[in-house]
Amino acid sequence: MSAVILSGKDMAAELLEQQSARVDTLRLNGIHPALAVIMVGEDPASAIYVRNKERACAKAGIASQVIRLPEHTTQEELHARIEELNEDPLVHGILIQLPLPKHLNETAALTWVRASKDVDGFHVINAGHLLQGHPTVLPCTPQGILYMLKKAHVPLEGAHAVVVGRSNIVGKPLALLLLGENCTVTLCHSRTRDLASVTRQADILVAAVGRPRLITADMVKPGAAVIDVGINRVDGKLCGDVDFDAVAERAAYITPVPGGVGPMTVAMLLENTLEAACRA
Ligand code: GUN
Repeated sequence: MSAVILSGKDMAAELLEQQSARVDTLRLNGIHPALAVIMVGEDPASAIYVRNKERACAKAGIASQVIRLPEHTTQEELHARIEELNEDPLVHGILIQLPLPKHLNETAALTWVRASKDVDGFHVINAGHLLQGHPTVLPCTPQGILYMLKKAHVPLEGAHAVVVGRSNIVGKPLALLLLGENCTVTLCHSRTRDLASVTRQADILVAAVGRPRLITADMVKPGAAVIDVGINRVDGKLCGDVDFDAVAERAAYITPVPGGVGPMTVAMLLENTLEAACRA
């Protein structure tokens, strides 16, 4: 295997130590950083992600509460719950776990969160700041990916970054973030023609579609940095969107699944929560 493995698990553990120290300092100043997570319904993957977030908060000394609402919650009920958290001076960060059940309007709910308490960067105001090139709070997964690339000293300026997947959570904000780092960015999606011919041009290749082993070795330029955002379950085992073993023979850098981007997403959530607590 030739690629350097970028361990998000190790980087997140290192960040956690710094974050714990920051929490101690904030506490000495009478601020007890606190995060509230709203989860609607029973999506099993979301339940696991939320549990990981709670655990990480506990390790860092950040107070967290999870508000579990039933599947049939109405938009008005959800907004009322968000409003309570907006008004609670002891809550610094609010996260609405996505996806919401189909009958709920996600954008409306995300924008009901007070922009200063939005630790996901999904509020239209915060998303707008990112679009304008003056980011305020950055979405956690894109922020974690950029952190990993910078930590590994992967050259960004002028690099061709190809992002596969155009979600509001990862693909779109990551494309903007990489653009801000002076990458040349191509954003691919399910209707992209001849995907392999595009991905083969990538110095930095990010897969964020949720299709197991979509990215095979022949789709990767030798020496590329390959970032795998996928978390798929195949035969009871976790795997990413990248065919890890084969691609690791060709790439210069690769992130594993599990232990790659996932832990960095959580680490950046803690970072955003601490920032929100400092602002408050
Ligand atoms: N669901 C999957 N990823 C995320 C994320 O980063 N934030 C939120 N709120 N929900 C998610």
